[in-house]
Amino acid sequence: MKQYETLLIEKKDGIGTLTINRPKSLNALNSQVLQELHDAFIAIDQDKDIHVLIVTGSGEKAFVAGADIKEMKEKHALAGREFSNFGNKVFSLLDNLSQPTIAAVNGFALGGGCELALACDIRIGSENAKFGQPEVGLGIIPGFGGTQRLSRLVGPAKAKELIYTGKVIKSEEAETIGLLNAVVPIEELLDEANKMATMILKQAPLAVKASKEAINRGLEMDLSHALALEAEMFGILFSTEDQKEGMTAFTEKRKATFKNK
Ligand code: CAA
Repeated sequence: MKQYETLLIEKKDGIGTLTINRPKSLNALNSQVLQELHDAFIAIDQDKDIHVLIVTGSGEKAFVAGADIKEMKEKHALAGREFSNFGNKVFSLLDNLSQPTIAAVNGFALGGGCELALACDIRIGSENAKFGQPEVGLGIIPGFGGTQRLSRLVGPAKAKELIYTGKVIKSEEAETIGLLNAVVPIEELLDEANKMATMILKQAPLAVKASKEAINRGLEMDLSHALALEAEMFGILFSTEDQKEGMTAFTEKRKATFKNK
């Protein structure tokens, strides 16, 4: 795998862990980090050794403290739009990765950091993690998907409250509003993410992949089209070996051995 300057990528037992590694700037997303994330997500999507991806930040203080404000400061309108378009492209690559993704949020997840977590399928936070979209305090709005993904996840009223006030909330509240799936002590964070990844790995891989696609694509459709998509994907899975194996194993009262076929 390619070496990156701002990212660390490890692979073990089917689980990939991508760590944003710019701790002196609280892992803020500058153009280099974004470009490396772009390249890494394209590579990971095709990586046969990664079946679940965990995304985290280095250190115990920050997951990602947002887009790099020092770099953004001098941008003009066109450059601002390009930066947002590119960030959205990168985060959409993450959102649409063929593998399931888990954000292990280990500290501040502000602005682009909160948006990075939102582009993952599942979010687990440490007790010290903090979330917010403070962009209006900088004279801008969330630009890497926050106005859209946050509203879809927690509902427009809560998203508007968070975005209009720029307030920072703790993990406990993030879990209450549905922004986090679970909260654990920081020392257990990666273990917990790996435990969830391992549970996912035990399921039929094509079925997990189809679930992700049905949910993601379905959320962009009206209900009747989304249900038709579900029925189509449900049907396709009956032509897989793993469906035969899963159901045969049930009737034979044994554990299924899936082949990703
Ligand atoms: N961009 C660039 N540098 C950042 C940064 C960011 N988003 N966040 C932190 N840093 C840098 C600080 O400038 C500081 O660097 P120096 O030592 O060179 O001064 C270093 O990281 C440590 O940060 P602090 O000294 O500020 O640490 P703290 O503990 O006092 O505060 C914090 C932590 C509350 C997270 C604070 O750093 C902070 O508020 N950061 C900015 C958060 C923010 O506004 N994020 C949104 C960015 S806009 C955005 O993301 C747009 C979008 O949607 C795409």
